[in-house]
Amino acid sequence: MMTARAARLHAFGEADELRIETIDLPEPAPGEVALRQTAVGFNFIDIYQRKGVYPLPLPTGLGFEAAGVVEQVGPDVRDVRTGDRVAYMNAGVGAYADRRNVPADKLVVLPDGVSDEAAATLLFKGMTAQYLVRKTHKVKPGDLVLVHAAAGGVGQILCRWAKDLGAEVAGTAGGPEKLAVARDAGCDFVIDYRQGNWVEAFHEATAGRKARVVYDSVGKDTFLGSLDCTAPFGLVVSYGAASGPAPDISPELLNKKGCLYLTRPSVFPHNADVATFRANAAELFDAIARGAVTVPIGARFTLDQIADAHRAAESRATTGAILIVP
Ligand SMILES: NC(=O)c1ccc[n+]([C@@H]2O[C@H](COP(=O)([O-])OP(=O)(O)OC[C@H]3O[C@@H](n4cnc5c(N)ncnc54)[C@H](OP(=O)(O)O)[C@@H]3O)[C@@H](O)[C@H]2O)c1
Repeated sequence: MMTARAARLHAFGEADELRIETIDLPEPAPGEVALRQTAVGFNFIDIYQRKGVYPLPLPTGLGFEAAGVVEQVGPDVRDVRTGDRVAYMNAGVGAYADRRNVPADKLVVLPDGVSDEAAATLLFKGMTAQYLVRKTHKVKPGDLVLVHAAAGGVGQILCRWAKDLGAEVAGTAGGPEKLAVARDAGCDFVIDYRQGNWVEAFHEATAGRKARVVYDSVGKDTFLGSLDCTAPFGLVVSYGAASGPAPDISPELLNKKGCLYLTRPSVFPHNADVATFRANAAELFDAIARGAVTVPIGARFTLDQIADAHRAAESRATTGAILIVP
């Protein structure tokens, strides 16, 4: 039997609860393939799961996305072959590993123009940006869009993609270096939300115009301010909680703030069946090939340094994507 090196979690808690272990890897079951993983993506959701904010049955692996090469194909697999370069973003937790068996219908074959590293850093975050700008709100030329944590992984992709669709983009980030990154990612206006009253700073920057759509992944610290930055009949998209969950509000508050719409979407239902997943991925790969979507790799870690990767992300020290090389 093959073995794999994988990060395992036996108790929720701080980053040092993550242990690298050698585990048995059985032959791929019907419908599965065995992957040798070459690049693993880090996502903020991994922190929520490690801490037990989104509880998982323990012990567990962790990590949602990776790219690699198909080494062995199980029975009844038709659309993926040995030697294919592939990636996934929704095959259950356990991507922090050098080898893994994955259901073939969770895989997308990578086109030549998309490297393993790009796929592992862009698939989960890019598919998130894809539904946010193409489905949750179809961004149009002339829209004013506000993106929080604009220097982050999803944030940078969102800014670039919204810009590519013709929007004017305002982005928040913490500190001058991150503001520069947000500007490079296409923001027309940048606001440091760790300094003073960021809602006023947003109104000053846009000369009083409010956003058609606000993409809020920060939650607790920004959510109420986001309502004040949204134009009448505009949409607030609460899609993350990096600072903690957004507060409970009464529907009446949406009336008072300008008949606003509020949604709390997730990437997984947007990619629930294999045909939709692969069609959305094709749209993302097209945006990557056109150069509309990129995200610089802000930090690299080995699998053995996985706890350091978590600490870096949690301390807000990173910009762009974090890559884990098994
Ligand atoms: N709903 C969905 O479908 C979906 C899918 C994927 C990701 N997400 C969400 O999208 C967000 C971005 O994910 P990502 O992986 O690309 O991470 P990321 O943006 O690279 O990192 C999170 C960023 O949030 C900001 N932040 C604000 N307050 C924070 C706090 N108290 N602690 C830590 N960070 C704080 C930091 O930027 P500053 O230093 O500039 O504030 C930090 O860099 C996350 O909230 C994630 O949960 C949602």
